[in-house]
Amino acid sequence: MKIAGQTAIVTGAASGMGEATAAALAAGGAKVALFDVKADVVRATAKRIGGLDVVCDVSDAASTEAAFAAVRQQLGPARILVNCAGIPDFAPVVGPDGPLPLERFNRVIAVNLSGTFNTIRLAAAEMMGLAPLEEGERGVIVNTTSIAATEGSEFTAAYTASKGAIHSLTIALAREFGDAGIRVLAIAPAGIRTPMMTMLPPQAQQAIEGTMPFPKRLADPMVFAKLVLHICDNTFLNGAAIRLDGGARGAYKVLKPTGD
Ligand SMILES: NC(=O)c1ccc[n+]([C@@H]2O[C@H](COP(=O)([O-])OP(=O)(O)OC[C@H]3O[C@@H](n4cnc5c(N)ncnc54)[C@H](O)[C@@H]3O)[C@@H](O)[C@H]2O)c1
Repeated sequence: MKIAGQTAIVTGAASGMGEATAAALAAGGAKVALFDVKADVVRATAKRIGGLDVVCDVSDAASTEAAFAAVRQQLGPARILVNCAGIPDFAPVVGPDGPLPLERFNRVIAVNLSGTFNTIRLAAAEMMGLAPLEEGERGVIVNTTSIAATEGSEFTAAYTASKGAIHSLTIALAREFGDAGIRVLAIAPAGIRTPMMTMLPPQAQQAIEGTMPFPKRLADPMVFAKLVLHICDNTFLNGAAIRLDGGARGAYKVLKPTGD
């Protein structure tokens, strides 16, 4: 799909990879809606790149339905959806205070997994009502998983489970939406220099870099945005979770169980 003139929604667009993707799509001529819970930051980012800021909690059905309605009214229905909103969580399942509270696990699933599904269900419903473009394509959806989905990582049970499920959701929905001409993909990053990564202790960041054959360094979030642009353009890509990780392989310790 050519992105120029299309409406695109990017979630988690106030920061990191979502911000970089929103900027790249806008630079390519798309009409971009930036969804995030951080109202002030997303407003400033949208102003800077020439997009529409929409305060939206993707884990909340009503908030996200209202956000889609605002985009429909102001920019027209979206043909591109990029799900970047996500939260990390670092904790042992059994810690000094006993078993991890279920609410803490559920919150990560609610934002990362249910939040991804929530925007997809609304975007797909709109895309299915649009006229097909070249080759019968109606839309493209890009989710964000993680190499944690396949590599696993200690002390991140909820996060890892949420990302594994996004991986599974992606292939299931690529099949379900195929007849409608909607492609569904995921990007599985590791080691991208965003606030979510730089909040980790330096030893953890170095451990991630140490698993990369080349280049052995954290990457600029723009590498993610560039891949989104390529996915939009390349209609033969579908149903895949594409690793974006400098070749990083193998589990690494993110934190010690004490959280330090
Ligand atoms: N940075 C990495 O190396 C890395 C690696 C693997 C996966 N990821 C994934 O990439 C995605 C983007 O992460 P990032 O590194 O850019 O992090 P980030 O923290 O810079 O950005 C995440 C954004 O999501 C927003 N957000 C959080 N909860 C939300 C909600 N309920 N509704 C709407 N917005 C919400 C935050 O406010 C923030 O702006 C996440 O899904 C993350 O899990 C990141």
